[in-house]
Amino acid sequence: MTTAPSGSRLPGFYNLSLKERHALLARDGWLTAEEINALSGEAGLTSAQADHMIENVVGLHALPLGIALNFLVNDREVLVPMAIEEPSVVAGASFMAKLARAGGGFTAKTTPPEMIGQMQLLDVPDFDAARQALLDQKDRLLAEAAQIDPVLQRLGGGPRDIEVRLIDSSPIGSFLVLHLIYDVRDAMGANAVNTATERLAPLVEAISGGRVHLRILSNLADRRLASAKCTIPLTELAFEGYNAEEVRDGIIAAWAFAAVDPYRAATHNKGIMNGVDAVVIATGNDWRAIEAGAHAYAARGGRYTSLSTWGKDSAGNLTGSLEMPLAVGIVGGATKVHPTARAALKLMGVKTAAELAEIIVSVGLAQNLAALRALATEGIQRGHMSLHARQVAIAAGAQGEAIERLAQQLVAEKTVRIDRAEEILREWQER
Ligand code: MEV
Repeated sequence: MTTAPSGSRLPGFYNLSLKERHALLARDGWLTAEEINALSGEAGLTSAQADHMIENVVGLHALPLGIALNFLVNDREVLVPMAIEEPSVVAGASFMAKLARAGGGFTAKTTPPEMIGQMQLLDVPDFDAARQALLDQKDRLLAEAAQIDPVLQRLGGGPRDIEVRLIDSSPIGSFLVLHLIYDVRDAMGANAVNTATERLAPLVEAISGGRVHLRILSNLADRRLASAKCTIPLTELAFEGYNAEEVRDGIIAAWAFAAVDPYRAATHNKGIMNGVDAVVIATGNDWRAIEAGAHAYAARGGRYTSLSTWGKDSAGNLTGSLEMPLAVGIVGGATKVHPTARAALKLMGVKTAAELAEIIVSVGLAQNLAALRALATEGIQRGHMSLHARQVAIAAGAQGEAIERLAQQLVAEKTVRIDRAEEILREWQER
């Protein structure tokens, strides 16, 4: 029997053992025993399953899977699964989600799940005439495209529009590009769009008199955007020796740096992607597609800039927002085949790809805040080092309770290095 999941606060989760965390997830009705096994690795992806997913399989590659707490997205309590090897990311997201929930949590939304399929048209005899003919026959093209995937059509998806662009200077001269706008509903959409562009090519050639060369979706999914915003009450920002205004203004100044400087913007956006990718990977989605889309979107104005914006409201509270393309799915591909991905989707209780995107963009914003808050105050190394120290301790050969003990000593000595870790271990063994 499962009860309705409670809130996402789960105080003390950090201090529980792995077993106790599993028990809590089951007790509070977040997941069944079977789903917990899928997350814990006991019943996750098998090599035999993997052998059907890609070629030349020899095994599996594991990543830590953590849960970010405290998330309130569109008034819904969410536990967020994150697959990532980097320390501090899960803790950072959880902590910032806690600050954000004091201001009502994250408000997120998405545009319709419209992807762009591109067709490159070469050897077109007359660009203007071909372009006009394609636009004149838009209804015919859309009707033909609608036949291609009856399942998607039944679910309310399918072709929406046709656009034709003239590329008038390229290394091979001019050519036309046709964009097929395709609503893919709850799928990531690559298969649906690629199939549609391939199937539509002969008709496009017949109408335009040209030759269709490439037929492939665009990862710059700028019609499929997700956005999130949050307000952090000023009072939540003070900590240790830092007063609230100083933290807020420091965060805004850090953002301003990324807004104008591509060198900083790349790192700033990398921090956002720490959160975004971790959820994308946990749910079996294509993180390369999301990365490509995010960075291309960040450069859409002709200069690479920050994906997020930070400022203050009239009451002096910190306000943040993030907008980016998020082509993620909850049906098809690894999202369905991978048992851990299925359990991760279940944990978040998402019913649509849009809901998943709304959570992911909120995590990206939280992660960005975690980085900026640390950078604008004490720097990231302090928080990072204590977690990093555990990895160094393990790499040096520490086991069981010695991992934590060694990590603490490395941090206390301010020397988080493998050579020192090995030395301490040797000293302990010689005692
Ligand atoms: C590290 O993985 C991410 C940060 O560099 C992001 C940032 O600088 O904003 C801390």
